Amino acid sequence: MSTEPRGHWKSRFGFILAAAGGAVGLGNIWRFPYIVGENGGSAFLIVYLLLILFLGLPVLIGEVLLGKASQRDPVGAFKELDHPKSPWQTIGFMGVLAAFVILSFYSVVAGWCIEFLWKAVSGAFGPGNSPDSVKQIFGELTGSPVLQSWYHGIFMVMTVGIVFAGVQKGLQRWCEILMPALLIILVLLMVFSLSQKGAGEGLKFLLKPDFSKLSPKVILDAMGQCFFSLSLGMGAMLTYGSYLRKEDGVVSAAAWVVAMDTAIALLAGFVIFPIVFSFNVEPGAGPGLVFVTLPAAFQQMPAGTIVSIGFFGLLLAAALTSAISLLEVITAYFVDEFKMPRHMASIMFGVVCFLIGVGCAYSDKYFGFLDNLASNYLLPLGALFISLFVGWKLKPEIAKAEFEGTVYARLFGIWLICVRVVAPVLIALVFLNATGLFAKLFGEGS
Ligand code: PHE
Repeated sequence: MSTEPRGHWKSRFGFILAAAGGAVGLGNIWRFPYIVGENGGSAFLIVYLLLILFLGLPVLIGEVLLGKASQRDPVGAFKELDHPKSPWQTIGFMGVLAAFVILSFYSVVAGWCIEFLWKAVSGAFGPGNSPDSVKQIFGELTGSPVLQSWYHGIFMVMTVGIVFAGVQKGLQRWCEILMPALLIILVLLMVFSLSQKGAGEGLKFLLKPDFSKLSPKVILDAMGQCFFSLSLGMGAMLTYGSYLRKEDGVVSAAAWVVAMDTAIALLAGFVIFPIVFSFNVEPGAGPGLVFVTLPAAFQQMPAGTIVSIGFFGLLLAAALTSAISLLEVITAYFVDEFKMPRHMASIMFGVVCFLIGVGCAYSDKYFGFLDNLASNYLLPLGALFISLFVGWKLKPEIAKAEFEGTVYARLFGIWLICVRVVAPVLIALVFLNATGLFAKLFGEGS
């Protein structure tokens, strides 16, 4: 049992905003467009949306439920719901590991946002500057490990500062302003984007299905993005759930979080791809995609400087709320399981993540390795075991009670099948497919 009294969200709405704030971040605006671009657009998008619905949503409900039912951290939850020596607690350890890995590279990209916010304030994205200047700014930044490490450090200090202050105060206030503001600026940007000459090409890229582009790698990337974007499979959502009160319903809250997260990713796609084609940027340009396309568009807009400050300011804030939820997983674990003082845990592990992340400033390969390891392997594996635990080990009455008496009552059976069979089988198949084992076993081409 944890010794510190557990803070609770003031309302279910507070939970939704905080959990959506944790889910919405660089994953939606930086990672989603570049992964879509690298995987050829529309075919990826369809697979992604299907996975969100049949994999993301059911597993999210399950994960939040584990938090709510146990009121514990991601390791303690399995001890509480199974028994103190439960082998299932390994899921929690894996989650804490994933949190270390993700926060380390996440903070480096968030650092890029600080530099771009700074450039925006100094007028670099106002009218009269050329798109080449944007590429130059990005090139100089990514070419300088020292500068990147510096910003990475600043971001980590901000993250630690907020976790240091405690959960409710730290998280809830931010998201109530942040989410609506982010939505509004994205909608405005989309209106601008869709009026550009490349809009038709951009829409075609996103919407005209081209299944020749489907491959095992595309599907694995879509699955990884699904878990990354929803902060799923590593205990972040479990931790949020653990601050829910008895009377707060899990199912509709989870549906809201999925809807907001997906809407913001799609909006980002519809903002970026018209610009990609208007300014002749390569859609598969990789992690720099958002940073080289959007500022070039700001330069063409009326009030570009103000819009660019607003955009990078909000992106940074969104990155911060996600980073907080990552550090919170790590902190909650050491506070709940080892009775470590909260202040000490947040500072110590902030430093550890800073040190792991510095390597990303020096090597793109290392960066890609961390990202791929976490998104395509650790998170799906975590989600696989979480769904097995929720489906087969957790008393079905606990889950059933969440559906009964709500408009979702009739969906309980479908949800149970999803977490018992569909999710685990799907994840296993995508893994087999991606490793090429599937093709070998069944002699199918990839
Ligand atoms: N979902 C967050 C984003 O989209 C990233 C994240 C992943 C946060 C996993 C916590 C856990 O930016």
